[in-house]
Amino acid sequence: MRAYDIVKKKRDGRELSEEEIRFLIGGLTLGEIPDYQISAWLMAVYFRGMSENETLHLTEAIRDSGEKSPFSHINGIKADKHSTGGVGDKTSLIVAPIVACYGVKVAKMSGRGLGHTGGTIDKLDSIDGFKTDLSPEEAEKVVNETGLCIIGQTARLAPADKLLYALRDVTATVDSLPLIVSSIMGKKLAADDDVIVLDVKTGSGAFMKTYEESVRLAEAMVKIGKRAGKKICALITNMDKPLGRAIGNSIEVTEAIQTLNGNGEKDLTDLSVELAANILLLSGKGDGDIKKCRLLAKNAISSGEALNKLIKTVVAQGGKSDLILHPENFKKARFFKEFHASQDGYVYKVNAEKYGEAAILLGAGRAKKDDKIDYTSGLYLNKIYGEFVKKGETIATMYSNDEKLFSAAEQKLREGTVISKEKPATENVVIAKID
Ligand code: URA
Repeated sequence: MRAYDIVKKKRDGRELSEEEIRFLIGGLTLGEIPDYQISAWLMAVYFRGMSENETLHLTEAIRDSGEKSPFSHINGIKADKHSTGGVGDKTSLIVAPIVACYGVKVAKMSGRGLGHTGGTIDKLDSIDGFKTDLSPEEAEKVVNETGLCIIGQTARLAPADKLLYALRDVTATVDSLPLIVSSIMGKKLAADDDVIVLDVKTGSGAFMKTYEESVRLAEAMVKIGKRAGKKICALITNMDKPLGRAIGNSIEVTEAIQTLNGNGEKDLTDLSVELAANILLLSGKGDGDIKKCRLLAKNAISSGEALNKLIKTVVAQGGKSDLILHPENFKKARFFKEFHASQDGYVYKVNAEKYGEAAILLGAGRAKKDDKIDYTSGLYLNKIYGEFVKKGETIATMYSNDEKLFSAAEQKLREGTVISKEKPATENVVIAKID
């Protein structure tokens, strides 16, 4: 078999066999097929798409490219939640402690920021001392102690995804449905959790911008999960605007803590409760009644138990509990600058992609793979979608350690903001459920 023939076959729009897909992924993992041939194949997939069978074979080839079931020594139901990538999305830090309160084990491998979207591991790295690079064995110990642990993806799990992702990131082939499906589900099936709840974002800040594309993505992932015997569902959720008020790293951890303290923004709280409730439901809690599961999720917040779980886990992973109890003690950026409204009116549009890009320009994310993140930088949205603002009032506050970065970030905010005399319609954060 030759990589050349497989690239040509896909370029011509023909269906690849399981053997051909495994040959490519195996060759990529072993370093035997050069990046330029894999990149050409990715672009062919981007334009030609993949059949359901091809997507399944690619998912399974990614799953089988490394170690599987890294948390097999954890007793009880193991659950995971995975988002397709968003702006201001700190729900993992809220959902994992909530479900852990009810005995559902969460040994979560999370990612770093991609493109304009943030990553849970970067956020957790902003907590002094917190170790996101524990081995699966160390993570298992933490889960057995506290019920949850969040670490970065190990090199041993689905290594083909890491290699493919790095190439997709630089060849403009990220937003391809079969590539997203196989990337997410290849990792999820390798991690081998019993319960998987997917948060499929839709709108300006999502990789899939339209509702229809997002539904197709969710349906494809749920189908693959079910074929593998997983309890799985997907929520289609609004990513047309950022989630909550904070975009960045320590600033998002602070907002997650406020939410666990019961003082969260409505969209962030609603989404966290819904994701947690669906995990609890699929884990057999709440007598199989989603309303009871929602109540359980809300009770974990109001009782303070979920926050306690987070504190215990932060300590078990080497972080300082003081920062969770007093998030005002997070190190601050040296500079801030306010972005002001140019007229009176309602905040009518907050383009999530532009706001995500602004946060990255301030230092909260990476422009290149090896860039260092400034954990103190980011954005705080003084006004969010639907709120009234007066001319000259602050819509958003930018934080950075480099004053020179403000003007480019402010330009993005200007491009991403629409103020209108008309009050925008109220939108639910959870739009649909696919199961
Ligand atoms: N998240 C992933 O893990 N992979 C993708 O391709 C997109 C989002």
